[in-house]
Amino acid sequence: MTGFKPCGFPRAALIAMAAALIGGFAQAAEPPRLVEKAGRHALMVDGAPFLILGAQVNNSSAWPSQMDKVWPAIQQLGANTVQVPIAWEQIEPTEGKFDFSYLDLLLTQARDHKVRLVLLWFGTWKNSAPSYAPEWVKLDDKRFPRLIKKDGQRSYSMSPLAQSTLDADRKAFVALMTHLKVADPENTVIMVQVENETGTYGSVRDYSPAAQTLFNGPAPAALVKAVKTKPGTWSQAFGKDADEYFHAWCISRFVDQVTAAGKAVKPLPMYVNAALRDPVKDQDPVTYSSGGPTHNVLDVWKAGAPSIDLIAPDIYMPESDNYFAVLKHYDRPDNALFVAETGNAIPYARYLFQALGRQGIGFSPFGMDFTGYANYPLGAAKLDPATLEAFAANYRLFAPMARDWARLSFEKPVWGGSEPDDRAAQSTTMGDWRVTLHYGKWQFGASDWAWLKDRPVDPSGLNGGAVLAQLSPNEFLVTGRNARVEFGRAKDGKSMLMARVEEGHFDNGQWVFDRLWNGDQIDYGLNFTGGQQVLRVKLATY
Ligand code: DGJ
Repeated sequence: MTGFKPCGFPRAALIAMAAALIGGFAQAAEPPRLVEKAGRHALMVDGAPFLILGAQVNNSSAWPSQMDKVWPAIQQLGANTVQVPIAWEQIEPTEGKFDFSYLDLLLTQARDHKVRLVLLWFGTWKNSAPSYAPEWVKLDDKRFPRLIKKDGQRSYSMSPLAQSTLDADRKAFVALMTHLKVADPENTVIMVQVENETGTYGSVRDYSPAAQTLFNGPAPAALVKAVKTKPGTWSQAFGKDADEYFHAWCISRFVDQVTAAGKAVKPLPMYVNAALRDPVKDQDPVTYSSGGPTHNVLDVWKAGAPSIDLIAPDIYMPESDNYFAVLKHYDRPDNALFVAETGNAIPYARYLFQALGRQGIGFSPFGMDFTGYANYPLGAAKLDPATLEAFAANYRLFAPMARDWARLSFEKPVWGGSEPDDRAAQSTTMGDWRVTLHYGKWQFGASDWAWLKDRPVDPSGLNGGAVLAQLSPNEFLVTGRNARVEFGRAKDGKSMLMARVEEGHFDNGQWVFDRLWNGDQIDYGLNFTGGQQVLRVKLATY
C-alpha cells in the first residue's frame, strides 16, 4: 500500500479545499446576511435581497427514510426554502461522537431540488422541553437540571442557568456549524433557527436556590437600560414583570451564547421562534411559554441575545384580528418580520399578503410533507391537494418575482392586506394616494353598488389578499388574489385616473410588458382573481 498521508491536513480542510477548487460558484458565494437600513430589512442571499417562500416539514420528517415523502410536497408547493430540524439527539447520540450523515444527504437533496434550507436547531428547547436532547442529556438530571417551580417541584423544562447544559448544547451546535462550514461552501443553508420555541409552561421562571440568589441581586445594567427602567433588584426594576423578565433574560443569554459560538464558526443569519401568548389580551405567563420571546418581552430578548438577527412568530391563530396583531408586534424597525411557522390550513394561506405588506422577509406554513401527519386543529386535518394548492397558488404568484419583490420591499414603500374575517375593506395612504383593498367583490360593478351582492365566501375559506410597492410617487406595482385594489387621492380631492395599467412580469429583474388593462378591467378597480397577475400602474390627476 502506498499509504498517501494528507500531510497533517484534517479531512474537513481537504474537502473544503476540493470544494473551493471544483466550484467557482462555491468560492464566490457571498454569505447570507440580514441587513437593516432605516428600519427596513432584507435577507441577502448570494448578494441580493431574497424572499423566503418557505415550507417547514413535520418534526419527525428529518430522516433519510422520509425524504421521498418530503420533496414531492415541496415541489408541488413551489417553495424556494425548506425549514428542516437538525436534532441534537440525531447528531450526538453518544457524547462527543457526531453523525452528520443526514445533514449531508439533506444538503445534496436540497441542491438537487434547487431550494435553500433553514436549519432548525432542536437542542435544549423544543417547544419548551428537552425532548430532542440526546438521552445522555435528558436522563441526567443531576448534570443537566430541570428548573424548579415556585412550589419546589421539578419542571419538565431545563434550567437556563445550568452551565453544564449550556456547555454541552453549545459544543454540539458548534460541531454542527463546523461541519456546515465545510459541507456547505455555497450556502445552501441561508439561515439557522437556534432552539425551538424556548420558554416554560407552568412556571414563570426558575425558582431554584441558584436562580433565587440571582433574582434577589441587581438586574443587569444592559437590561435596565434597554427597557428604560430604574436600577435595582429584579423586583425593584421590573415590578410585576420581574419573574417573566428574569426567565426571558436567562434563556436569551443562554441562546445568545450558543448562537455567538456558532456564528464564530460560520456567520449565518440566526433567529429564534416564539410560541405566542395572546396578542391582544393580557394573559398570565404561567399559561404560556414564559421566558420565550413572546411579544411582551421582545426588548428583553433584544438586549439578552444581541447575536440573534431576528425574532419570529409561530402563528397558529386563524382569526384575522389576532393574526394581524401578531404581525404588528413582530414587525419592528429593530426586527425583521419572518413568519417562521404558520398553520397549513387553507385560511392561513392569505396571510402571506399581510406579512409581505409589512415588509416581511418570508412566510412558511408548517407540516408541508406527505408523511401523513397532520397537526389539526392548528393546521389542516389533511394535506390534501386543495390545501396545498391554496399555498401553491400564492407562491406561483410571487416565485417568478421573488427577488424583485424582496428588492422593492427593501428599497420602496410597500403595503398590503389579507382578507379579514368580516371581509371589511382595508386602506392606507401612500404619498398622495389613498389605497383601498376590497374583498368579496365581483370583477364587474362599483364597490358602492349596494344592490350587487358580494361574492359568497369560498367554502374552503377566505382567500383574498393584495400587496403594493410604490415605485415612484405616482407609480405602483400591484398584485393580489381574490381582491380588488382601488386608488383615490389622499387629501386634495383632485380628479384622478389610472393613466396606464400594464400587466406584465419580471424577467431577470426587468419588467416585461404583456398587455394594457383598460375598460371593464379598470372601471371597477383592479380586480385580482385566483390567477397570477402583476400590474404596473401609473396614476395621474387632471
Ligand atoms: C410549533 C413548533 O415549533 C413545531 O415544531 C410544532 O411542534 C408545532 N408547534 C405544532 O405542530
